[in-house]
Amino acid sequence: MKILVVGGAGYIGSHVVKALLKAGHDVTVFDNMSSGREENLFPQAGFIRGDILNTKDLDSCLSQGWDAAIHLAAFKAAGESMLKPEKYSINNITGTLNLLNGFAEYGVKKVVFSSSAAIYGEPQYLPIDENHPKDPENYYGFTKLEIERFLHWYDKLKGIRFAALRYFNAAGYDIDGEIKGLEQNPANLLPVIMEAAAGWREALKVFGNDYDTKDGTGVRDYVHVSDLADGHVKALNYITEKDESLIVNLGSEEGLSVLQLLEAARKVSGREIPADIVERRPGDPAKLVASSSLAKELLGWEAKYSDVESLVRTSWDAYKDAKK
Ligand code: UD1
Repeated sequence: MKILVVGGAGYIGSHVVKALLKAGHDVTVFDNMSSGREENLFPQAGFIRGDILNTKDLDSCLSQGWDAAIHLAAFKAAGESMLKPEKYSINNITGTLNLLNGFAEYGVKKVVFSSSAAIYGEPQYLPIDENHPKDPENYYGFTKLEIERFLHWYDKLKGIRFAALRYFNAAGYDIDGEIKGLEQNPANLLPVIMEAAAGWREALKVFGNDYDTKDGTGVRDYVHVSDLADGHVKALNYITEKDESLIVNLGSEEGLSVLQLLEAARKVSGREIPADIVERRPGDPAKLVASSSLAKELLGWEAKYSDVESLVRTSWDAYKDAKK
């Protein structure tokens, strides 16, 4: 298939591009390079520099004709979204509506969308399945939930079939070590640990050790980015073959604590990695773990590389020789 990957130069996008190329697709990246990296672009894929907020950019790209699009272009820092909701409204919501209108106009009938576990909010029960109540705790999660709702309507009214993939905590780097473009100013746990291991920050701040969890620190479901990428290929196959839309969680179904990741990183890197226990971060639940049984049942998808050792080893492979 001829596939447009919007946001394909980013952290998750670049891994998705690699998986699509490997599956034999004809892939082009559309990215404004605001957080995408040149080094994440594959020579085998096309590249169009453009912005989803610029309808001229979109017209000239979408008029080239595409069988499917993967949409990963979004801001994703939950904390920032509470301080600058306008930024998230414009880029995540307006940008996605521009894309959907373009898809409707130019006949792009299949879309895979990066949704998030952030749409569920504070867990009412664990593991979290797709029927869990949706009550986002932050504005970022709200934008993702709204976009899922728009997708339902564009399916119904415009025949656009979609897969909304609700990622849990994306982590790790390319399992083959080919993609090494690092995220700038990361806020997520594993890249922060890696930057501390590389000596780029003084210490990891552990946000609270008095949660009701195995060691008192926050527990999350970390899913390897190469597993996520494989989920996109499978989801696209599903909506193509079944001609119906799909919503699934993508998670490892394993809970790892902050200290577990820290200890694994110390072991793999051989570095001391200083860490300080600080106050809890507001809005952080104690524990989030996915049920991915629906993805297994419908897509035959399962996390293969989301064990703590693979998450940390592939991350350290990307960071250990990198320059800040
Ligand atoms: C992250 C994203 C959220 C996304 C969700 C699901 C952010 C801020 N949050 O949530 O947008 O939807 O994954 O994919 O980008 N921690 C520390 N010290 C740090 C950083 C984190 O102790 O410096 C702890 C947190 O308290 C938490 C765990 O590590 O217990 C994971 O945090 P983080 O990587 O930020 O992810 P989430 O907040 O779970």
